[in-house]
Amino acid sequence: MSNAFVTGWGTAVPDGVLTNADLEARLDTTDAWILERTGIRERRIAGPGDTSASLGATAAASAIKQAGLTPSDIDLLVVATSTPEQLMPHTGAFLGERLGLRCGSFDLNSACSGFVYATVVAAAMLQTGCRHVLVVGTETMSRITDPDDRATHILFGDGAGAAVMSSADAHGGLLAWDLGCDGSATDILQIPAGGSRLPTSAATVARGDHYIKMQGQEVFKRAVRAVVDSSALTLERAGCTAADVAWFVPHQANTRIIDTAATRLGIEADRVVANIDRFGNTSAASIPLALFEAVDDGRVADGDLVLLAGFGAGMTWASALLRWGAPE
Ligand code: UT7
Repeated sequence: MSNAFVTGWGTAVPDGVLTNADLEARLDTTDAWILERTGIRERRIAGPGDTSASLGATAAASAIKQAGLTPSDIDLLVVATSTPEQLMPHTGAFLGERLGLRCGSFDLNSACSGFVYATVVAAAMLQTGCRHVLVVGTETMSRITDPDDRATHILFGDGAGAAVMSSADAHGGLLAWDLGCDGSATDILQIPAGGSRLPTSAATVARGDHYIKMQGQEVFKRAVRAVVDSSALTLERAGCTAADVAWFVPHQANTRIIDTAATRLGIEADRVVANIDRFGNTSAASIPLALFEAVDDGRVADGDLVLLAGFGAGMTWASALLRWGAPE
């Protein structure tokens, strides 16, 4: 029996901090509105030298080191991002080059569900002969957010989280998962231009179609449903219940989404990991940023059952249940 374990992890956020007071000074919004409606106080914003690959590489280097490995031990790199370094080549090429990797790499774009998708893909690749797969969720959301759109600009932040997933003949690691996508809802959260459907032109730029467009309330409703249903399915597949979960680590999109989903699942607030107040919504980076903070500060302990659940543009959703700890 070969299972997939997280054997190293790391995170990175840019130095720049954008507070609600900063936003209040330049948009028609208030600190009170943002805090009450989203739970966000501040977010990290990429500086001129930061990119999705640079933040991801910093997080990944920590993860490789912590796993006691060197880059040459990595058999595959999977980068989850919806803010790629550029449209082509893929972000994994840039990120891998920063680490000195020569293994295979690819990007996976399942938006905010991306890190959980990539974790599941890594586990599958570990079944096919890979020994160590590097999974990175990295985003520079500030580069695709309209600075004049108060509905989205207040929400998003930048950052990265990385995990080395390793195979071992032991109990634990990734126990169960669920991935899904409802492509009938592509229009509720999207960047309309810059792809084959609507190539970039002077007109698309003038309209701001290279920025995120979001129907917030519709995303909200679907997000709660997706997180609850997907988490319930994953727990059922593992033969567990919500009562068995030590830590619920949801995508950090909105405190009200997190609280509602946790309540519906029957998971009390003291078993929920949230750091949205300090980082905002960092899309594919949000779950690893929250999870690894809770691991580093000692909340998540060996043997704990950890439930990850994300949702995002697509609309995609993904959940995974991990037995935390190194293989024994
Ligand atoms: O990773 C997945 C990505 N996205 C999400 O998960 C987002 C999910 N949705 C949400 O988090 C919430 O829908 C938002 C935080 C985006 C918006 O909160 P809401 O409670 O759904 O607000 P709303 O869109 O219903 O707007 C209520 C009012 C409106 O004014 P009127 O029409 O009632 O006069 C908005 O124009 O609040 C107004 N509003 C704002 N006011 C102050 C919208 N954004 C702001 C703002 N500051 N930043």
